[in-house]
Amino acid sequence: MKRPIKALKDETLQIEEMLIILEVLCHKLEDGEEVNVKDLQKVINFFKVFAEECHNKKEEEFLFPEYKKCPKQEAQHRKEVIDELKGEHQLGKFYLIVLGKMISKIQRGDKSCLKKFTQISRKYIDLECRHINLEFTELYPICEKTLSVKQKDTIGHQFDMFEDKTFGEGQHDNFHCAINKMITNLKSVYLGSGSSN
Ligand SMILES: [Fe+2]
Ligand SMILES: [Fe+2]
Repeated sequence: MKRPIKALKDETLQIEEMLIILEVLCHKLEDGEEVNVKDLQKVINFFKVFAEECHNKKEEEFLFPEYKKCPKQEAQHRKEVIDELKGEHQLGKFYLIVLGKMISKIQRGDKSCLKKFTQISRKYIDLECRHINLEFTELYPICEKTLSVKQKDTIGHQFDMFEDKTFGEGQHDNFHCAINKMITNLKSVYLGSGSSN
């Protein structure tokens, strides 16, 4: 079991790497370069499965409720932060549904939505950057500072159980390994030299 706030921060670093790869893919599309549609799909699926179904859900189900427990004078501010973060999760989910539909069209050979794909991708990238900033300046440091060791241990166990429930008993290590491998492959193609396996 990893420390929960550290686990979320590490996951965010992976999300940021994939946001950079998505930005590179957008540039290529704008320059009229041929882009591997399977890679576009891998990137969008990563955000759907890893960022949304795993990372965001762990925050919403286990961390937000703990962050919400606070002295009365803090209550309004924390409620506003949670409302904003949840709203951003929802908007991100919407963008990913739209992007997923566009990829299906592109796969069928319809290239008319490529421009729209880059526009929505950039909206998604902007949204995620703002979201990450709020979590790193508010949610994570406050939780790190104010939650007890016992509360953090409980959240850590809840994260592991959630991933086992979502990806299969004992599979959370395998899941993170597969994610790491995919990011390394895409980075070698789009951020460095080498080729995808
Ligand atoms: Fe997050
Ligand atoms: Fe979040």
